[in-house]
Parts: sequence; C-alpha cells; structure tokens
Amino acid sequence: MIRSTLKMLLGVALLLFSSMLAEAGSYNGLNLLPQMGWNNWNAFHCDVSDNLLYETAQQIVKLGLRDAGYKYVVLDDCWSSGRNDSGYLVEDAKKFPRGMPALISDIHALGLKFGIYSSAGVMTCAQYKGSLGYEQKDADLWASWGVDYLKYDNCYNEGQSGTPKLSFDRYKVMSQALATTGRKIVYALCNWGNDDPYDWAQTLSNSGRMSGDIIDTFNRPDARCPCTESVGCVWPGFHCSVMNILNKMAAIQPRTIQGYYNDMDMLEVGNGGQTDSEYVVHFSMWAMHASPLLIGTDIRKLSPANLAIYSNPAILAVNQDTSTSAAHRHWLYRVEPDQYGEGEISMWTRELSNGDTILALINAGMHSLSMNSTLDEIFFDGPSQRKQTWDVYDLWANRMSEDEASGIINGDDSPISPTSSTRFNASAMSYDEGIKNGHPALTGGKVASIEPGGTFAKEIPSHGVGIFRLKAAK
Ligand SMILES: *[C@@H]1O[C@H](CO)[C@@H](O)[C@H](O)[C@H]1NC(C)=O
Ligand SMILES: *[C@@H]1O[C@H](CO)[C@@H](O)[C@H](O)[C@H]1NC(C)=O
Ligand SMILES: *[C@@H]1O[C@H](CO)[C@@H](O)[C@H](O)[C@H]1NC(C)=O
Repeated sequence: MIRSTLKMLLGVALLLFSSMLAEAGSYNGLNLLPQMGWNNWNAFHCDVSDNLLYETAQQIVKLGLRDAGYKYVVLDDCWSSGRNDSGYLVEDAKKFPRGMPALISDIHALGLKFGIYSSAGVMTCAQYKGSLGYEQKDADLWASWGVDYLKYDNCYNEGQSGTPKLSFDRYKVMSQALATTGRKIVYALCNWGNDDPYDWAQTLSNSGRMSGDIIDTFNRPDARCPCTESVGCVWPGFHCSVMNILNKMAAIQPRTIQGYYNDMDMLEVGNGGQTDSEYVVHFSMWAMHASPLLIGTDIRKLSPANLAIYSNPAILAVNQDTSTSAAHRHWLYRVEPDQYGEGEISMWTRELSNGDTILALINAGMHSLSMNSTLDEIFFDGPSQRKQTWDVYDLWANRMSEDEASGIINGDDSPISPTSSTRFNASAMSYDEGIKNGHPALTGGKVASIEPGGTFAKEIPSHGVGIFRLKAAK
C-alpha cells in the first residue's frame, strides 16, 4: 500500500518534472522560431498606403521570399487618423481607402500574415494616437480586422518607465488585452532595451528590441546612440550602427530563449548606406543571433545582389534553427582605427540543435586580414568537442549568382528545385527537416577540416565576415 502510494507520488513528481522540462515554447504558443517578414519603416517611414503594402506582399511571393520564410507584412507608424466617438482607432481614409480589413484579407489570400503598429504611450513616436489606456479597444479592433502581429513601441509613455516593474506592468496590459481577444497575435515589444526587457519580457511577449533604432551605417558612431553596451544603458537613442547593435548582444546572449528573441531591429540591406560585404555582416549576424529578420527595404526595387543576401538559405537555416539561441562573443580586439576612430576584429560561436557549431570571424578593420581560431577556443565550453575532428563549411560559398537573382526579379517563376544549392522552399519543408535530410542549400560549401589541437585560418575582407558551420567529421 505504502509502496504503491510512494510509486504514485514518484510518478506525479516525474510528470511534473518532465512538464517543466517541456516548458520550452512561448508565453502564447506562438513564434517558436524567430519571426521573419517585412516592415516599411526603414525605407518609407510615414509614407504608407494600401498600394505600398499590397504591391510589396505580391513581390514577396514573386521573389520566393514568402517560401524562404518571410511571412509577416508589417505596417509601421502613421496609419490612423485618430479615434472615433466610441474611442476606436480609425484608419486614414486617404492612405487606406478600401479600409484595413479588405487589405488584410488580400494579404492573407497570398499566404502571408499582417502586422500592425502602436505605442504603449499616449502618442506613437510620430505623434499619432497611442494605445495607453485604450489597450482592450485597440486589441479588439485589430483582432476583428484579422491582424496577426503587433509591434508595440515605447514613445510618450507618461513616465511609466525607468524601472523594470513600470515597463513590465505597462507592456503586460496589452499582452492581456491581446490574449482576451482570443486571436493568435504575435506580440513584438519595441522598447529599445529600456529597463532590461531581456530579463522580464519572456512571460508576456514574443520578442523585444534590445537597442535604440538602427540606421543604415556599418560602424559610424552617433552621439544620439550613446550606449555601446546593453548593460546599464539608460538612453538607447537612435541612429545606432550595425556594429554598435551587434556588440550590445554580447552581454545578453543567455537571454534569448525559444519564443522570446532579442530583436536587433529591422534589416537595412538594400537601402544603400553600406557595401555588399557590410550588408553580408549585418544579415549574417542578425541571423546568427536568432534575431527577428524583417526586411526593411523597398523590395519592389530589390537588386539581384540584395535578393541573393536575403534569400541565402544556409544563413536562414541558422536563424531558424530550433536551438533558438544567440551567439557568444569569445573575443574582440582593437585594430588600426578608421576615420571614425573604429577598428576591431571579433570571434563568435553558436551551437545548433543537431550539435553543429557556427563560427563567425568578423573583420571590422580597414584592411583585409588573415584571421584564425583554435579548436580549443571554439569549444571552450565543450571538452569532448575539443577532441573531435570538425569539417568546416562556408555558409556564403553557394551564394545565388547575379544571373540567377536577375532571372527571378525579371519574372522567372519556375518553382524552386528540391535539389537547388542556392534556394530553399521552407513552405514545402522546414529548415529543421532540411538540415536533417542534408539538403544541399543549407550547409554551404566545405572549405577545411580542423583536427584536435588545430587552428582554422581564413582571409577575411575589410568590413567582412567569414561564417562557417562546423560538423563533426564522420
Ligand atoms: C468606431 O469604430 C468602431 C470600430 O470600427 C465601430 O464599431 C463604431 O461603430 C465606431 N463608432 C462611431 C461612433 O463611429
Ligand atoms: C593567428 O592569428 C594571430 C593574431 O593575428 C597570429 O599571431 C597567429 O600567427 C595566427 N596563427 C595562425 C596559425 O594562423
Ligand atoms: C514552395 O512549395 C509550396 C508547397 O509545396 C508550393 O506551393 C510553392 O509554389 C513553392 N514555391 C516555390 C517558389 O517554388
């Protein structure tokens, strides 16, 4: 009797324990992999319209970007004309003449999802009506429209910030309002890392911005983005460069978990402020950190080179890896300063769910450099991994050619071949399955092997990155 009771108790305890272990997921069951899509802000700011969003959605499908995983079409600030007499937001009738529900329904018909924007303040950042105090009305309206995603900003918050508790409580109100609607809505915080959301936002949201706003520069410092570290940053600001945001990820690496991603801000690839090699660093490192990937350019005018960057399946497979973790920076050294007084090299790694490890060697210096890393350094935290031989695959080795990308832009709509080494159809097979099946587009090209005790060295161009998948040699 006592024995069987004990057995039962043990069984219950085991069940409880395993359900704790299975708690990976997210607070609302959504966004189990980092969200991918497009947002108009970086390229269009307030210049939004039904036409812009619908043409963009069609282009996302045509270029194969939907099937690469870019699912959310997100409308940013400046879409409303205020509130009506019952307190509901009303879309601007000049910008959205057919009304929002008609547009959203057309976007859904293309197999895409629709995102909207507001601020946890009395006004949005562009001084349109904000949602503070109107959370349930706004959530109900968006749910009735068919909205799938909310980007929720931090401007004009009436002083309800400055401590984690104040920010937590303010953002929690909208979280509950969205849940009350019963519609599945991804909740993306945009409070710029204020009050350390990476330490409290996992239980109420699906992602959180960790820095002030990006600008389309590689490493140009700007006094309006005063912090160079996330820890202790009290004024996130804006005009933050790619290297500024990247380095702020180093300290908060353990605070990226499944269902809550540290959002490094929308991508600038295609907006003209950086070289091709700099855009490759930007895109690769956002993917490496499991950041949401939101294209931030006019994709109706996307160049072949930029299409090749946005569609690199070997990089997207890292972003969409089920490990859902950020990368660890092992070292950063200063090198000869450029005109901005900047110049650095750094080495980062991330372990993936199948045991592969990604190695990134970044050269943010003025000259091309031979960079290297030892196996002992790459696997500092893994003594058994240090004793293995590793094959090294360059994740940019199979970049889509300008010819292939031009063909797609000019209307070649033949389906993505299941044996392509340059493109991948994630609507037909998930990245995870693709990796398990050894799909040729997802691992790049083999460039070396590293023996125990060995060193891997590679010439890395100025303002460039070498990003490699290490697979245990058979
Ligand atoms: C305000 O907007 C809501 C939602 O669109 C609508 O149901 C309501 O009838 C409107 N109220 C007025 C007074 O126009
Ligand atoms: C690795 O890089 C360091 C620093 O540049 C250099 O001193 C060393 O010789 C390099 N080692 C190899 C094996 O390339
Ligand atoms: C991707 O696969 C889906 C499902 O099989 C298919 O409907 C779609 O047309 C494919 N897309 C491309 C660009 O090949």
